[in-house]
Amino acid sequence: MSGKPLLYIETYGCQMNFADSEILVSLLQDQYDTTREHAQADLILVNTCSIREHAEQRVFNRLREFASLKRKRPGLRIGLVGCMAERLKEELLASDLAIDLVVGPDAYRSIPRLLSLVESGRKGIDVLLSEEETYADILPVRLGDNRVSAYISIMRGCQNYCSYCVVPYTRGKERSRDAATIVEEAASLVRQGYREVTLLGQNVNSYRAGEVDFPGLLEKVALVSPSLRIRFSTSHPKDLSDKLLSVMAEYPNVCKAIHLPVQSGSTAMLKKMNRKYDRQSYMERIEAIRRAIPDCGISTDIIAGFCGETEEDHRQTLSLMREAGYDSAFMFKYSERPGTFASKHYPDDVPEEVKLRRLNEIIDLQQSLSLESNRRDVGKVFEILAEGKSKKGNDQYFGRNTQNKVVVFDNPAGEDGQRPVSPGDYVKVRVESCTAATLAGQACFEGKA
Ligand code: SAH
Ligand code: SF4
Ligand code: F3S
Repeated sequence: MSGKPLLYIETYGCQMNFADSEILVSLLQDQYDTTREHAQADLILVNTCSIREHAEQRVFNRLREFASLKRKRPGLRIGLVGCMAERLKEELLASDLAIDLVVGPDAYRSIPRLLSLVESGRKGIDVLLSEEETYADILPVRLGDNRVSAYISIMRGCQNYCSYCVVPYTRGKERSRDAATIVEEAASLVRQGYREVTLLGQNVNSYRAGEVDFPGLLEKVALVSPSLRIRFSTSHPKDLSDKLLSVMAEYPNVCKAIHLPVQSGSTAMLKKMNRKYDRQSYMERIEAIRRAIPDCGISTDIIAGFCGETEEDHRQTLSLMREAGYDSAFMFKYSERPGTFASKHYPDDVPEEVKLRRLNEIIDLQQSLSLESNRRDVGKVFEILAEGKSKKGNDQYFGRNTQNKVVVFDNPAGEDGQRPVSPGDYVKVRVESCTAATLAGQACFEGKA
């Protein structure tokens, strides 16, 4: 132990927030060691999400727990960072939650300075958004449970202004990180033994740094090492290009999986949501994916009960889900966010019980689509990147196939002189059974069926 004070960081929200927490730890590593036990911490940072009201409520509950911890240990410092910090600003300092520090997503470099303010008995706040900050020069301290797969932020912010969404307000203008620093980060991860990177942005398709667009960046990262898998998230359907699909098809190490949030199957709703595509052009993109990469995994996000959504709009969502045949989906009830276009101009008029019923119908349908999709894979052999031991024990391992499906398999330790599998290995697995959530099978080796 170095005797430094201890930092505990808790992260809510999207993958970008998890990537940001790794930047935060990096920025504070000269002053703090990290701990996984909040009870030991000298500084607690809560990296927060504002996407739905429920996400914020969870954080408020947690902050009440931390505030009572602080009553017992007055030396404890509590910082709130991320999207709620940006949205609520001074309000958070004025609350009775004993927060010392409020810092928005573009101001993390000022935390060490703000902490010295806090030590002099003041409160620290910086919620300035930036048009340039990408933290390109900060080497993230990896916090993930495995040493196999890592996130790389390739851009920040969003200016699509989907009418329901708070992100453009909490994350500011879209900006892309210099390609060379991304390629260098990927190369350094390979040297450390990582086997998979996920390139992150709110809309990776609009990445542009100088001459480099997203297909160009993907190609550069694919060329770093054939043993490195590359994933990316999220693709906005309005600009998923054929050029991107051909780079995906060309490089075996670019994973065959696309997360393409549709939000609604109704053109009227999509217009109101300001998504800039309609049902037909969305389905045309799905067909383009199927043509270019027939075995591509496709997942989506869906919102149930947006303002003015009728039963017919809802049925359109269900029918689009069937047509697209999603492998998986994240599904949400619409949650009005203060400050958004929708909150100002459209009444949140679908009754709660109707939202819930529609959401459940969407979830039930996706459950059966996922099961169908998984059943089609029984009997197939996939290359799996082993990530770790399965929680169920029994010496089983888990990993993902290129389509991003989780596959559980027996560790073939000792069998026929094979060495046991360890995380980071690529293993061929024959799928023998499935649920809606996972595939299960046996590792198989050359010359052995
Ligand atoms: N940039 C990504 C989405 C990021 S937010 C994209 O456009 O695809 C992740 C998901 O949260 C969204 O796709 C949407 O389905 C959901 N979401 C965003 N705002 C929401 C709100 N106000 N209520 C409910 N769900 C919301
Ligand atoms: Fe939100 Fe739309 Fe931006 Fe996605 S693209 S983060 S849904 S505003
Ligand atoms: Fe949430 Fe902010 Fe991500 S609102 S979804 S943490 S960009």
